[in-house]
Amino acid sequence: MLPKINPTNTKSWKALKLHYTEMQSLKIQELFKEDNSRSTNLRTDFEDLSLDYSKNRITKKTLDLLESLANECGLKEAIEAQFEGQEINETENRAVLHTALRNLENLKPEVASTLEKMKVFSDSLIQGTHLGHTGKKITDVVNIGIGGSDLGPAMVTEGLSYYKNHLQVHYISNIDGDHVSETLKFLDPETTLFIIVSKTFTTQETITNATTIRKWFLQKAPESAISSHFVAVSTNKEAVRSFGIDEDQVFTMWNWVGGRFSLWSAVGLSTCCAIGYDNFKELLAGASAMDTHFREAPFSTNMPVLMAMISVWYSNFYNAETEAVLPYTQYLTKFVDYLQQAIMESNGKSIDRNGNRVNYTTGTIVWGNTGTNSQHAFLQLLHQGTRLIPTDFICYKESLYGNKDHHNKLIANCYAQGDALLNGTYGETVDAPYKIFEGNKPSNLIEIDKLTPRSLGKLIALYEHKIFVQGIIWNIYSYDQWGVELGKKMANSRLESM
Ligand code: F6P
Repeated sequence: MLPKINPTNTKSWKALKLHYTEMQSLKIQELFKEDNSRSTNLRTDFEDLSLDYSKNRITKKTLDLLESLANECGLKEAIEAQFEGQEINETENRAVLHTALRNLENLKPEVASTLEKMKVFSDSLIQGTHLGHTGKKITDVVNIGIGGSDLGPAMVTEGLSYYKNHLQVHYISNIDGDHVSETLKFLDPETTLFIIVSKTFTTQETITNATTIRKWFLQKAPESAISSHFVAVSTNKEAVRSFGIDEDQVFTMWNWVGGRFSLWSAVGLSTCCAIGYDNFKELLAGASAMDTHFREAPFSTNMPVLMAMISVWYSNFYNAETEAVLPYTQYLTKFVDYLQQAIMESNGKSIDRNGNRVNYTTGTIVWGNTGTNSQHAFLQLLHQGTRLIPTDFICYKESLYGNKDHHNKLIANCYAQGDALLNGTYGETVDAPYKIFEGNKPSNLIEIDKLTPRSLGKLIALYEHKIFVQGIIWNIYSYDQWGVELGKKMANSRLESM
């Protein structure tokens, strides 16, 4: 089970509070002047990923105190409890084992057989051996799901579009009927395959959308055609059967996989169809490599732990309200949307693991978009606004199509933004106050060699583990989401009166 420690009662928290008063007037620019190897000292590498965390308002003392805080909050034991499959999601009596979905060396038999089923099925679509009811090959795949049953797969499918095959993959999530109609408008029922993805198979949006689509399909095809055009991913076999999908058309998932951590399971079937099973497996392998790093690396070089603890430092001591994430690649346009669910649905909690209301801030509000687009949109506020917004820059050393001119400009911009936030016009003479950039604005730089299925797996797992660490420090349950229930109930009663 997880430790249940109020972080504010620890010695380290109190020491960090004191330390914060010393740090308030300190400028990162000065820290760089004092130590010209700061950017190599405050950097950690894991395989083809590096995290440069030197541009933060931290010193060796800050890092030591944050590490002590992690120790005092029982982080090491918590990590083990999660990987061992203890029921750490206590409010739902569930283990949390998305890491078991990608532990390829040692797969649970049920995970191995579902992966095999995904392989066979995706191969048959890609190779054109799975035919529609009139004998035509499948050209389009539609994922019907919402939240974790949409955001993860949609983000990865787009993120890895360089590796995509000929299948066109579409995502329908919102209960907005216009969006359903817009998507169906260009689809041919004879050549389209629908994947209904819902862990519970009770989600209003997904069931409504799936029912509408089934009706649309049956206007053009006989009932017997359902089996070649509809499959489901769910834990709820009974509900899937009553929807009219046979057992052998169901890809199983398990209640020890949380919705927002499920892209590694059969929830990722649409991605697997889009990029092929071998690439999907590489995605899993990358995430698994990050799992091992997280479980084994000492906290002082542990990427997710460092990112999480530095973020706690800003949230709880500097009162930073939000964090920005800026990937410098158009492929990761959906990455922030995905992170918003993963981070905010997990750590947006105010009751601690002892059942008490917390007396400190939890959760981070995450936002952002791709660079360089963000530079021409909201980065003004980061540079000259009044708020402190710690930022993660993510960039790739190599472009996929090898256009050097574009790529040099893309990463030069990424590096320059971090430098400008850090240095500002500090030490320079500026001829008008509105031209002043104070600098001293913190950022991390995550640099990755190349966008591949494996490196994307690592990047996603990095953020997943950051979420977990923060939940442990904040003494909250990161893996439930009771906060979404009330609105669902109220929507149902509103609907009854309409
Ligand atoms: O809205 C909350 C939520 O339960 C998410 O956590 C989940 O990812 C989403 O709804 C979809 O749930 P399901 O896969 O059961 O349809």
